[in-house]
Amino acid sequence: MSNYHIKNFPEYFHIYRNSVRNPELFWEEIAEEHFLWREKWNKVVSWDFSKPEIKWYEGAKLNITENCIDRHLYTNGDKTAIIFEPNNPDEGALHISYKELHERVNKMANVLKSYGIKKGDRVCIYLPMIPELAVSLLACARIGAIHSVVFAGFSSTALSTRINDSDCKMVLTSDGSYRGTKSIELKSIVDEALENCPCVETVLVVERTNTPITLKSGRDFLIAPLLDAASNDCEPEIMDAEDPLFILYTSGSTGKPKGMVHTTAGYMVYTAYTFKNVFQYIKGDVYWCTADIGWITGHSYIVYGPLANGATTVLFEGVPNYPNYGRFWEIVEKHKVNQFYTAPTAIRALAKEGVEFVDHYDLSSIKILGTVGEPINEEAWHWYDDNIGKKKAPIVDTWWQTETGGVMITPIPFSTPTKPTYATLPFLGIQPVLMDDAGNEITGNQVDGKLCIKYPWPSIARTIWGDHQRFKETYFSTFKNMYFTGDGALRDEVGYYRITGRVDDVIIVSGHNLGTAPIEDAINEHPAVSESAIVGFPHDIKGNALYGYVTLKETGESRDHDNLRKEINQIITEQIGPIAKLDKIQFTDALPKTRSGKIMRRILRKIASNDMSNLGDTSTLLNPEVVQDIIDNVL
Ligand code: WT7
Repeated sequence: MSNYHIKNFPEYFHIYRNSVRNPELFWEEIAEEHFLWREKWNKVVSWDFSKPEIKWYEGAKLNITENCIDRHLYTNGDKTAIIFEPNNPDEGALHISYKELHERVNKMANVLKSYGIKKGDRVCIYLPMIPELAVSLLACARIGAIHSVVFAGFSSTALSTRINDSDCKMVLTSDGSYRGTKSIELKSIVDEALENCPCVETVLVVERTNTPITLKSGRDFLIAPLLDAASNDCEPEIMDAEDPLFILYTSGSTGKPKGMVHTTAGYMVYTAYTFKNVFQYIKGDVYWCTADIGWITGHSYIVYGPLANGATTVLFEGVPNYPNYGRFWEIVEKHKVNQFYTAPTAIRALAKEGVEFVDHYDLSSIKILGTVGEPINEEAWHWYDDNIGKKKAPIVDTWWQTETGGVMITPIPFSTPTKPTYATLPFLGIQPVLMDDAGNEITGNQVDGKLCIKYPWPSIARTIWGDHQRFKETYFSTFKNMYFTGDGALRDEVGYYRITGRVDDVIIVSGHNLGTAPIEDAINEHPAVSESAIVGFPHDIKGNALYGYVTLKETGESRDHDNLRKEINQIITEQIGPIAKLDKIQFTDALPKTRSGKIMRRILRKIASNDMSNLGDTSTLLNPEVVQDIIDNVL
């Protein structure tokens, strides 16, 4: 039986059992049969969660771009690797074959080399969703440079923090980016960021919007002439299995963003294998994931996973509502998309606009639908099932994280019966457990607890760049010998998992992971602000929105609260980006605190959610009287 492609439910169970009984054999066979290795491994896995130290396929040598590109050239060179669908539909789509991708990646790799980038150097990529973005990731991987993609919606401050944290030598960016009717001047954001980044030697600029830019002499260069002049031949750098492939930042509940480090072989094997099965990809299919490559979903399931399988992957530059709310469905019809993968927030936003936008298009090509990024509510699930899948396309509700590298809990389409709001069962080789607060595993069904994973999988992050101690504390210290996800989950009567949400101070807004601490830090920089606390509250479209409680240094009627609210959101936009703006800001005389001075977010969360029942015993607070005052003035 081929373990690589699961085709029915009994097969899933059979292979799942083998995968957890003998993980080494299981992951060895997958790696052995489906990838190109320059040298094989000495050991499939070695791990110690107490350190933590995790290694997969140690001793193996490979280059991931040979697996994602070169090996398809002989059999499939003319096949489309990437369909680029631009922001403006009138511009027309671009089909990039595997041969062309090979050429583009090699040229870009040679340009990076000619500017001194070598194996192990960090390159920051701050680009919109254009082909050069995918090409840049692969060009770095070709020469063994470590890419650090920063989502091109982040502000200059957020960008400079990330550049400095991983000491990037180079930044790849564009003059500007298109987002619906808007355009954003990315190069000027980079210029601002680099005022604080002495480590950056070179900036290479892709021209996209042709907005005027300034090029700093000796530092900034337009990339087009360099690519034209570069050779299209670039020998891949042969990497060790555990050499870092990329860094990707994700927010934590406290402190600065965490640079999650993913390494080469395990990440490749796991993203390729999950892509094949979660999307049941077969030859000839056109697959589309609407995420941005700036997030892990784009890394794993727009670029590496699909390309490792020789798939055709759609790369969309625009937004769901431009030129109108039918854009997604127009693209599905136009490119005959077979697998469509998006976030619940997008589904809710589109559902709100009515089915006219959907019914206008032929969606009969769709075989499988996917969702990711946050829990999907029942209503959105049914809207997706009824209107997009026409009840014929299974929905894969895929639970995973930046840290996990690939999908962890998911149905296998046409095998696992789906259940609305449930991510259902662990993927092959994944061993989830629920834990109680005392640190005991909760066995049996119809239970809930904190979601942990008790055995490593190939694409688990290996460390936090520059801070291994923080890696250990965040993920491996809450529960002994377990990877702690930060999520709560329940297991139903048949053993299906439903993710109930974060159990820490991370808030998922429109599928974006936001830590409260950096937002509070930004607000507190406002000269009038004394203190602040951010919590999430339910929002129809975003899933959660942000509610800020702010205390001012001087209270009194004289303050213009509306203006202050604008200024606070302006600071947040500058420090983090528009995605972290607050929906509601309540000014309050004080924040409820414990006797040890900790802000009682639990109470604030309930008030913001308009759930005044069960506020718990507030009498033990340092300042119980403020609670009523906050309730009386809730927005
Ligand atoms: C957090 C990770 C993994 C790609 C995108 C987000 C939440 C993710 C689901 C899902 C319920 C989900 C979790 C997780 N999440 N997928 N299918 N159902 N919750 O990556 O930014 O690292 O966020 O997103 O809370 O911990 P991320």
